[in-house]
Amino acid sequence: MIIAANWKMNLGQAEGAILIQGLNMHADRWSDISIVICPPAPYLLAMRDIAHSEFHIGGQTCHGKLFGAHTGHVSAAMLADCGADYVIIGHSERRQSDGESGSVLLEQAKCAIDAGLRIIYCVGETLEDRQAGRESEVVSGQLADIQDLLNSGDVPVIAYEPVWAIGTGQVASVPDIEAMHNFIKSETSRIMGASDMPQILYGGSVKPDNAEAILSIRSVDGALIGGASLDADGFATICDYAQKVSR
Ligand code: PGA
Repeated sequence: MIIAANWKMNLGQAEGAILIQGLNMHADRWSDISIVICPPAPYLLAMRDIAHSEFHIGGQTCHGKLFGAHTGHVSAAMLADCGADYVIIGHSERRQSDGESGSVLLEQAKCAIDAGLRIIYCVGETLEDRQAGRESEVVSGQLADIQDLLNSGDVPVIAYEPVWAIGTGQVASVPDIEAMHNFIKSETSRIMGASDMPQILYGGSVKPDNAEAILSIRSVDGALIGGASLDADGFATICDYAQKVSR
């Protein structure tokens, strides 16, 4: 099971360090799960330096080229150089506010693989899509965008994050999560063959009080957590549930 913390553009370096130190002391309790902390890019190196050696560090995005004249961007090679071993690709906030299209995301994903990073690839429908009954079609299209990657046998982690559940406190229902995770599994096995199935995380308003129910769903292999990852005690509670259901 993977529990990933997406800090987004939150916390200063000192606050991040306090948060990580608060998690470090519990790390030995979480031997059966992988914890991935994704801080803002300028703090990657500092957080890698203080995080428990069992914790993974991840970037929140990367550029679609490894080096070059791309002012303000951070490449997958640079993330890896700072000690990251994961990167989130295709988060809905980047798809929406930074206009990242499927072809851009594929380039980013290829660079991440070249740099030796493991990808957490986000998919998910908007409220409008769901109300129109288009959620499967949308997610299927987002998976098709990285078909080249899936065909080449590079197995990403997939995060199903319904856009309407992110940061809103509104969580998808257990049957809806189950149905979409099963759909993603069948789509990826159709593209890749059944040999190397990706792990599928759920994301969208996961909190200490709903984490146990979500993580207990058979087709849920972990969670991608935004708001609740900014509080050491709350995040630790979620990790404890993940450890409990991983046993
Ligand atoms: P949230 O964010 O947990 O605050 O809803 C999840 C995400 O954006 O990955």
